[in-house]
Amino acid sequence: MQIRMDGKVAIVTGGSRGIGRAIAEIFVRAGARVMITSRGAEACEAAAREIGEGADFEPGHVGREDDVRRVIDATLSRLGRIDVLVNNAATNPYGGPMIDVDRARWDKTFEINLTAPMFWSQQVWRRWMSEHGGSIVNISSVGGLATSPVLGVYDVTKAALIHMTKQLAAELAPKVRVNCLAPGLVRTEFARALWDGGRGEKIAQAYPLKRLGEPEDVAGAALFLAADTGRWITGQTWALDGGGLIAFGPIA
Ligand SMILES: NC(=O)c1ccc[n+]([C@@H]2O[C@H](COP(=O)([O-])OP(=O)(O)OC[C@H]3O[C@@H](n4cnc5c(N)ncnc54)[C@H](OP(=O)(O)O)[C@@H]3O)[C@@H](O)[C@H]2O)c1
Repeated sequence: MQIRMDGKVAIVTGGSRGIGRAIAEIFVRAGARVMITSRGAEACEAAAREIGEGADFEPGHVGREDDVRRVIDATLSRLGRIDVLVNNAATNPYGGPMIDVDRARWDKTFEINLTAPMFWSQQVWRRWMSEHGGSIVNISSVGGLATSPVLGVYDVTKAALIHMTKQLAAELAPKVRVNCLAPGLVRTEFARALWDGGRGEKIAQAYPLKRLGEPEDVAGAALFLAADTGRWITGQTWALDGGGLIAFGPIA
C-alpha cells in the first residue's frame, strides 16, 4: 500500500532543510503540492527547485504576523487550498541550566517554538480549515517528554507544544486533526553540536535501534499522520527515537 496525498496542499515551516525539507519532499512524492517557508529565500528556492514539480516557496519568519499572513496568502492564491500545516521550524538559542537563562533567550525560544505554531494554527483554521477541514502536524522533541541538564528551556517549549497539540485537537475536532511528532537525535544542522565529531556514536549506541535518526525517518511518520492513513488519530504525540525512551536505564 502506498500512502497518497493527491490533490492536497501542505505548508511546511522550516521546509528549506533538515526534517522540514524531508517532509516537504515525501509529501510531494505522495502527490501533494507543498509551500516551503523559512527565513532564507535562497535556501527555500533551492529546496523547491531540487524537490521539483509540486514544490513552491515563499520566504518568511515564522514569528512575524505579517510574514505568516503573506505565506498563507501566497499559498491560497497560488495553490488554492491548505489541507495540511506542518509546524516544524524551531530554535534553541540557549544551552545550560534553565535556572540561569536570561529573559531575551527565554522569550525567543517560546516565540518561535510555541507561540508561532499557535498563531500559524489559528491563521490556517480561520482562513481555510474551519470550513474545509484539514490536518496539523507539530514537530516537538523527545526532550519535551524528559529533562535535560542543558536543553531545559527548549524542552519546556517542546513539552508545551505536546500539550497544545492535545488542546487544539480537542477544540478543532472533528474538522481538523492535530498530532505531534517527538524525534530523538536526528542528524541535521540544528543538532550538529550533539552528533558531530563522533559525539553521536555514543548516543546511537544507547538507542536500542543502534543508530541516530535521519530526516526521512521523521518524514514517513508525518506523511502517515497528515494523509488519510491518520484519519482516526488526533491529539497524539509519537516518539521517533530509535527506542531511546524505552531503553534500559540504571537499575534502582
Ligand atoms: N535534529 C534533531 O535532532 C531534532 C530532534 C528533536 C526535534 N527536532 C525538531 O525538528 C524540527 C526541525 O529541526 P531540524 O533539525 O530539521 O533543523 P534544521 O535542519 O536547522 O532546519 C530548521 C529549519 O527551520 C527554519 N527556521 C529556523 N528559524 C526560523 C524562523 N524564525 N522562521 C522561519 N523558519 C525558521 C530554518 O531555515 P532558516 O534558518 O533559513 O529560517 C530551517 O529551514 C524542529 O522543530 C526541531 O526542534 C529536531
